[in-house]
Amino acid sequence: MGETYDVIVVGSGIAGLTAALTASPRARVAVLSKGALDDGATRWAQGGIAAAVGGDDTVDLHFDDTVAAGRGLCDERAVRVLVDDGAPRIRELADWGASFDSSDGDLMVGREAAHSRNRVVHAGGDATGRELETALLRRLRHSGATVVENARVVALLHDSDGRCAGVEVRDADRAGASRVLGAGAVILATGGAGQLWRCTTNPPAASGDGVALAWEIGAEVVSMEFMQFHPTALALPTAPRFLISEAVRGEGAHVVDAGGRRFLFDADPRGELAGRDVVARAIWEHLLQDGTDHVLLDCRPLGGRVRDRFPTITATCREHGIDIATEPIPIAPAAHYMIGGVRTNIDGATDVAGLFACGEVAGSGVHGANRLASNSLLEGAVFGRRAALAALHNIAERPASPPLGRSRPATDHRAPTEDPSARARLRDAMWEGCGVVRDAAGLGRALDAADEILATTPVSDSIDDIGLRQSATTARLVCRSALLREESRGAHFRADFPSTRDSWHGVLVMQKERGHHFDRNA
Ligand code: SIN
Repeated sequence: MGETYDVIVVGSGIAGLTAALTASPRARVAVLSKGALDDGATRWAQGGIAAAVGGDDTVDLHFDDTVAAGRGLCDERAVRVLVDDGAPRIRELADWGASFDSSDGDLMVGREAAHSRNRVVHAGGDATGRELETALLRRLRHSGATVVENARVVALLHDSDGRCAGVEVRDADRAGASRVLGAGAVILATGGAGQLWRCTTNPPAASGDGVALAWEIGAEVVSMEFMQFHPTALALPTAPRFLISEAVRGEGAHVVDAGGRRFLFDADPRGELAGRDVVARAIWEHLLQDGTDHVLLDCRPLGGRVRDRFPTITATCREHGIDIATEPIPIAPAAHYMIGGVRTNIDGATDVAGLFACGEVAGSGVHGANRLASNSLLEGAVFGRRAALAALHNIAERPASPPLGRSRPATDHRAPTEDPSARARLRDAMWEGCGVVRDAAGLGRALDAADEILATTPVSDSIDDIGLRQSATTARLVCRSALLREESRGAHFRADFPSTRDSWHGVLVMQKERGHHFDRNA
């Protein structure tokens, strides 16, 4: 066998790095990253990491808020694990070198929408992700793990028993040559899929490849219809949709229309602090009604302190000519977080032996139909650790065996297309047909766009074609699930089925060979 590890971690955000750091003292670990190690979404996270550490808070309140946000679809066992493990994981991150904002020795905790208590631990004001990623990478360097950057996983490999036994990878540093890495266990921590939509808060790396890799090897995926749209992304024609953290609203900023009216109270008595699904939809509908492309986030109620509390947002808006202490910020919703993903149990195990998933790529059930703000970094830390522990257990029982087959179809001998417009077509179709508000016609068009890309993009060895096919595969799963769920719930709103229906109280599960089924017991 060629190069072999006990555990291969694919991805280097908070979930992947936590998994690697948990496993590395006891095992031979490799961390593979599609680009540079810190290219993923973790570094971009602003608001913080939710945990019941405030004096007036309890894990039960955190549990209740998470389950209420999830609109009946949370896996309550997974939520219990998440909230119970909050404070220990914050302590571990601090032990690993993360420096959280504190006052007189106590962690400072901010408020975000749909939390009944202040419980969002942050760092550098609004630079929580950057602080965590930096601390974790610093520790990784001394962990003994092998690190391979610019290494794109193009297929998961199985052994003669159908267990996941390694990866096929192309490293840019070796002129794109293909190589096989064997493993006792593979942990997918590839992050989300926001880049499937034209407007997104996510970095370019968030292109949905992890779900496609797991799909091809036969793993179940779940709840793909639930893409969370963030209500407040910077909306300027010349700027990317930079996230304006929900914590800004938590500190007292107002969402207003051109006439200065706080219209969110028409949708929910909690106004700016209603659930993220409610706020995103109310803003979206307001945009359609007024025929405009943005509303305004007015930070003036915070006064000059907004600049100290949110230095990253202040600096980015300033680059675009906006002083947030004195002028409102133009904002609009953008695709933000993939709630569904590769189906896992509470230990990150998928239904393919040897394959684990954690963080945004995983469908662990903690978020139900709508994720509570700042539960995602926590999810990465909690389930990254659990996936690593389960993977170690897995290899203790059965060490690596040689990988035999790849889960990617054989090349079809067509010349690579590398069609530069294809990805833009997909993103447009997803934004227009599978956005904040959907209906059957738009979803059908988005599904057609994904199908057209799968039909016209060769199964070639070109990295661009492989990446495009992975994105289209994941987009297809989102559209198919969204078409099937004929109701509205949480992040999934169907204009043609605007009510929540009891008959849909469960999750949609899909698998490549078996098709889909509805799991009512989730
Ligand atoms: C935010 O800061 O608003 C984003 C936090 C999150 O998505 O959890």
